[in-house]
Amino acid sequence: MYQLLVVFACLSFASLAAGMGGPSNNILRLNIQKEPVIDPNTVCKTYPELTGQQYHLCRKFPDVTASAVQGVQVAVHECQYQLRTHRWNCSALEKKNKNPHASPILARGYKETAFAYAISAAGVTHQVSKACSMGKLKSCGCDMQLHGRRGRHMRRDVSRDFQWGGCSHNIHFGAQYARKFLNSRDRARDIHSQINLHNNRAGRLAVIRNVREQCKCHGMSGSCELETCWKAAPNFRKVGQVLRRKYEAASKVQVAYTNSADSRLYKHNGRRPHKMDLLFYESSPNFCERNSHLDSPGTTGRYCNKSSSGIDNCETLCCGRGYNTLKVKRSERCNCKFYWCCYVECQVCTITEWVTVCK
Ligand SMILES: *[C@@H]1O[C@H](CO)[C@@H](O)[C@H](O)[C@H]1NC(C)=O
Ligand SMILES: *[C@@H]1O[C@H](CO)[C@@H](O)[C@H](O)[C@H]1NC(C)=O
Repeated sequence: MYQLLVVFACLSFASLAAGMGGPSNNILRLNIQKEPVIDPNTVCKTYPELTGQQYHLCRKFPDVTASAVQGVQVAVHECQYQLRTHRWNCSALEKKNKNPHASPILARGYKETAFAYAISAAGVTHQVSKACSMGKLKSCGCDMQLHGRRGRHMRRDVSRDFQWGGCSHNIHFGAQYARKFLNSRDRARDIHSQINLHNNRAGRLAVIRNVREQCKCHGMSGSCELETCWKAAPNFRKVGQVLRRKYEAASKVQVAYTNSADSRLYKHNGRRPHKMDLLFYESSPNFCERNSHLDSPGTTGRYCNKSSSGIDNCETLCCGRGYNTLKVKRSERCNCKFYWCCYVECQVCTITEWVTVCK
């Protein structure tokens, strides 16, 4: 049984596609919808709360912006996965008809804010890079920088030659667009903007620095006389893990003004932060109770784990309020797949179990 979940920003494209005859090409028996029509009016007017410059970029590059928006959504999903045992679990960023960048928590300077900025920038970089290489976007294609050149790598402890070929994911283009699109929100020189820009870059770097080499052998019966390789964006789960580790080790910084034109961020030990570090300047609240100013739901109703020694144990997650034990039957989205352009298709799985839930 399939449930079609239309991601908010692309609601109008999906209905457009459905109006054009709905599911069409039956490649591999996946009911892939006809490619949506992407024009500036559908993309830029549907996605809420774009800044002036983002709107301008969107009018100019609606197709790239559509995949950037999809990248933000992939990032919010990954954020929820990575922080699923935390009191603040990222779910507040996934509000219908809301732009995650307009949520109150992103206007703060918490560790959580840093993670949300970084993973969104990573999501945009990742998604745009891949879309370029899939031939979906007018302004970019495969990255041909290395194409045709020779390379050398280790294979089973033997150094071997290969040739760069195939279609490398266009990480340069993806990172550049992420920078233009997301950094335009922060142009001021105050600490808040500087930190956001820093965390955006850390997010882009988490993709850039984890690019993989993918290779294919040619030659008689797998002899691998000739090998071609191309660059591929890392699996986004991997990017999520890298950034979660950075989040756990995030550094608190302050700004020091060296002269009127220059200001720099310093850690409390006086050191400059590394460009891959996640930075924050405000201590987080405990996220125990509902807080409407932060759009934070609190932990009442959260599932906790009696036997866990981690932060999802009932004592910690429920903030000492105790818990109830319930037998529940739940359905959840499972085996979700993201399709170009803008929809997610999931199966529904039903599970019955005993759970402990925070009071
Ligand atoms: C995250 O927290 C919200 C609100 O407390 C809850 O509804 C949601 O199920 C949680 N998500 C996960 C993945 O635990
Ligand atoms: C609870 O925590 C224990 C110990 O870490 C783990 O083995 C178990 O799978 C967890 N249960 C759930 C429902 O996550």
